[in-house]
Amino acid sequence: MQEKMKFSSGEVSRYVANRLRQGPDHTKVEKKPKARKSRAQGGGRLQAIELERVLGELDRMELERQDLLRQIVSDQRLLDAGNRSTTQDEVLAMLDDSEGMEDLNMRSFTGNVSLSQGLESSIRAARSRLAEIRTKIGELMDDDRVAQAYQERVEAKVKTIRLARNVESLQGLIEKCDLAQMQLVARRSSEDVTLTEADRETMGKYDLIRQKAREKIDALMGREDVYYETRRRGLLEFRRQLMNGGFVRTASIRSEIMQILSHLQLGIPVFLRGHLGVGKTEIALHVSRKYLGHEPEFISGSEEATKYDIYGRTQIGVNSERNKLQEFKRRMDEYRALNPDAGPKELKEVERQYYETIVVKGQATSFFQYGPLVRAMKEGKPLIIDEMDGIPHSIIMRINHALTRKAGDRIRIQENGGEEITVKKGFCVIATGNVKSARYKREELDAAFLSRWWSEDIKYPPQTETYEILMAALIDRRGNLQVKNPVDLEDIRRLTEAATEIQQIFSGDHLDFLGEGADAARGTPAGLKKTVLSLRHLWNIVRPWKANNFDKPVEHYILNEFIRPAVAEDQVYLVQLFCRFRFFKTWTVEQFEVPGLTEAKLLAFQGKQAF
Ligand SMILES: Nc1ncnc2c1ncn2[C@@H]1O[C@H](COP(=O)(O)OP(=O)(O)OP(=O)(O)O)[C@@H](O)[C@H]1O
Ligand SMILES: [Mg+2]
Repeated sequence: MQEKMKFSSGEVSRYVANRLRQGPDHTKVEKKPKARKSRAQGGGRLQAIELERVLGELDRMELERQDLLRQIVSDQRLLDAGNRSTTQDEVLAMLDDSEGMEDLNMRSFTGNVSLSQGLESSIRAARSRLAEIRTKIGELMDDDRVAQAYQERVEAKVKTIRLARNVESLQGLIEKCDLAQMQLVARRSSEDVTLTEADRETMGKYDLIRQKAREKIDALMGREDVYYETRRRGLLEFRRQLMNGGFVRTASIRSEIMQILSHLQLGIPVFLRGHLGVGKTEIALHVSRKYLGHEPEFISGSEEATKYDIYGRTQIGVNSERNKLQEFKRRMDEYRALNPDAGPKELKEVERQYYETIVVKGQATSFFQYGPLVRAMKEGKPLIIDEMDGIPHSIIMRINHALTRKAGDRIRIQENGGEEITVKKGFCVIATGNVKSARYKREELDAAFLSRWWSEDIKYPPQTETYEILMAALIDRRGNLQVKNPVDLEDIRRLTEAATEIQQIFSGDHLDFLGEGADAARGTPAGLKKTVLSLRHLWNIVRPWKANNFDKPVEHYILNEFIRPAVAEDQVYLVQLFCRFRFFKTWTVEQFEVPGLTEAKLLAFQGKQAF
């Protein structure tokens, strides 16, 4: 677990400080700044506040320096890739020369105009700014007291970062213990034996490691600097995950994943249920790719699904040249295998016939194309049955037997003339579906069928996690928030609160007797027919808001990206819900264009008038 430390934090900070002191071209690193001697003399020169200001400036310049270097490298790379392009000046000269148009091969000319135009000048500008910054940093660092203080600051930062990384390693260790325990239990279960005495001891040790790791984490997180650094790094990690494929592993999702894995390891198929957009499909995909290490086979549930979509079908078609030859060879091999006594003459004749039919005439040959279920079994991959409750019951029942097969089991594929295949290690099944409710027109899955599965209700992420995910989408690669003003930050918080409320109302966890459409006398709460503010919708709101540089208040995006596209019967209630969270405070009814939203209603929602 313990990371091998090559440099102490003191060494790193000394290196950083020296590098800054000496500018970019130094070759030798001075071991220690000549600080001690002049510190006392310099002490009076620089007041503490001034020192703090200078250090702040150094921090900013160092960041700008890193950005410039990054920009130069990336621009240069682009430039190197398209270096035979026409320059901007050449293009301008050509456009000015109206006489020469007849002789000019415009096409080749414009073809050579590369999109990297202007890169040279931007690199030049970046280089000159870089030189400026280096000189400036050099000047500031010439003051020994500044150099010393900067070095101490870097040293403290390096320490905090190391501790925060240790927290992450400890968290990783806990996850590893979970996985190791799961694997042990799974192994014994597949061998059909109970845990031995030694196994129990091993399990106990993992428990102990986990407990101690938790204690260490708590102790480290008790330090304020480590706590904030861990949080900052956590958000940056979320941001990285969002950018590489979009799936964020929050604490609650991680614990869900562990549970899913523990059942899959035992050969138990997993059925993830939940409301619209809770993340069922994403979780199933993520478990397959990241934890089981395979791109899964995927069945998309629909009423039109047939058993052939699942097992496979005989395909008839004219094959490509290569396939024809392969098919010819395959048929010959088959003939030889079936007719071991056939003499050379007979074989020659069969060969002639087969060649004529398959290769020359290219006559339709049939071949069996395996469906996702069989491919997953043969190749030892996970199978995802997405929206399983959308598949007709009769078909689900037919595959019931296949789903709980384990590695080494043999299974007959009726669709391919009773071919027998062996289930390979790695095969497992994850299905998704909606929770049973009048809202979803779904097949009722029968109890006997479901008893073979481990079913888990997936919930919308807790409010704190939703907030973190949204924040992660808005920070830059250093962890700084990109919003324009503090009000925007407040908006994000209220947006997540509204999302949680809407999710709870949608899933029936919260009964709202005061909402639009409720009938308190009859005990009927207000309800959302088809609309919920899932993470997917939050994206749709926040992304364009950010892309447009927070130019308009977030309400515009809430209205255009979420309320207007919602079904008509939910719209007025949605306006009310957002008003509850103090959105749309000064809006007028005309701005909404929501059918059924009257002025009186809106004023009441805004708390300006009783309705
Ligand atoms: N952990 C996550 N990190 C990032 N995005 C997520 C996460 N979970 C869900 N999302 C977002 O929410 C959307 C909905 O997730 P997903 O499609 O998995 O939900 P679902 O439960 O399968 O929904 P449906 O019931 O509509 O099939 C995804 O497209 C993704 O943008
Ligand atoms: Mg889904």
